[in-house]
Amino acid sequence: MYIFSTTAYCDFTKKLSKQIKLKIGRVEIKKFSDGEIYARVVEKVRGQSVYVVGTIAPPSDNLLELLLLINALKTSQAKHITAIIPYFGYGRADHIVAEGESLSAKLMADLIKCAGVDRVIAVDLHSSRVEKFFRVPVINIKAQELLVIAICGGHSSGRPEDGPHNIVIVAPDNGALPLARRMAKQLHAPIAYFDKIRPRHNVARFGALYGEVKGKNILLIDDMIDTAGTIVQAAHLLKKYGAKKIIIAATHGIFSGSAIARLKNASVEQVIVTDTIPSAHKKKFSKLRIVSVVPLLGAFLTNTN
Ligand code: R5P
Repeated sequence: MYIFSTTAYCDFTKKLSKQIKLKIGRVEIKKFSDGEIYARVVEKVRGQSVYVVGTIAPPSDNLLELLLLINALKTSQAKHITAIIPYFGYGRADHIVAEGESLSAKLMADLIKCAGVDRVIAVDLHSSRVEKFFRVPVINIKAQELLVIAICGGHSSGRPEDGPHNIVIVAPDNGALPLARRMAKQLHAPIAYFDKIRPRHNVARFGALYGEVKGKNILLIDDMIDTAGTIVQAAHLLKKYGAKKIIIAATHGIFSGSAIARLKNASVEQVIVTDTIPSAHKKKFSKLRIVSVVPLLGAFLTNTN
């Protein structure tokens, strides 16, 4: 049994392969002069169950590599193909907001199925809607536990200074509420949330804050940080409303545009993300902490196979 990797996930796959004791399958991925991608599976996989790790995220070469590798495994007659997709990009467009838009999350799920996948393992899909778009079994692994361990165990004192009794879990918008509720339950903490609208793409406008944050330590959570507009504005407002220390935690650190500058300048103690997007490692700054989802995925794969 082999595990294969797209170019962007080679290091990630190396770590995962060590944990689940699987050999990394050799592939040939090249680019033609016109930019088209060529993918070939070098190993003989006929009749075998295989894994392939990749992402559906910009740049679009990542998506194409994943589709082509899945398809190469299919044409090589692998018996069962599981795609491990740590970050399922295009997942935010999971419903039609304006007439005439594409439903990109569904299209991506359809493309993967068309390429020949039998099962998908993802980490923190954007919403339950995305999960329903798949026409193959999908396992949506939750990184919440990892983030909670990083938050509670990562400090020298073991906890943020004032202890868990003084923490409020804050969702910067409605979408993050289910995650906030789960975290609040686990940490026995109250929640607060913002009313947020998007007047246009990548721009967040904040309305009312529901909940009490004055004099509290804050755990500000979301599934992803893209331009960091949402999370940094939320942190700024929380400070204005009298919050004490703020820790930001999110599963997917996309960090596009001005994200790093915004986060560096924000009045927050720490920013915790996972390694579902490998390029996050290249964007390190002193407040950033990256925790790996590899042990989580590894444990799941070991226990289910
Ligand atoms: C929105 O639905 C997501 O959960 C995030 O809040 C959003 O994508 C973050 O984007 P940005 O960091 O660009 O504000």
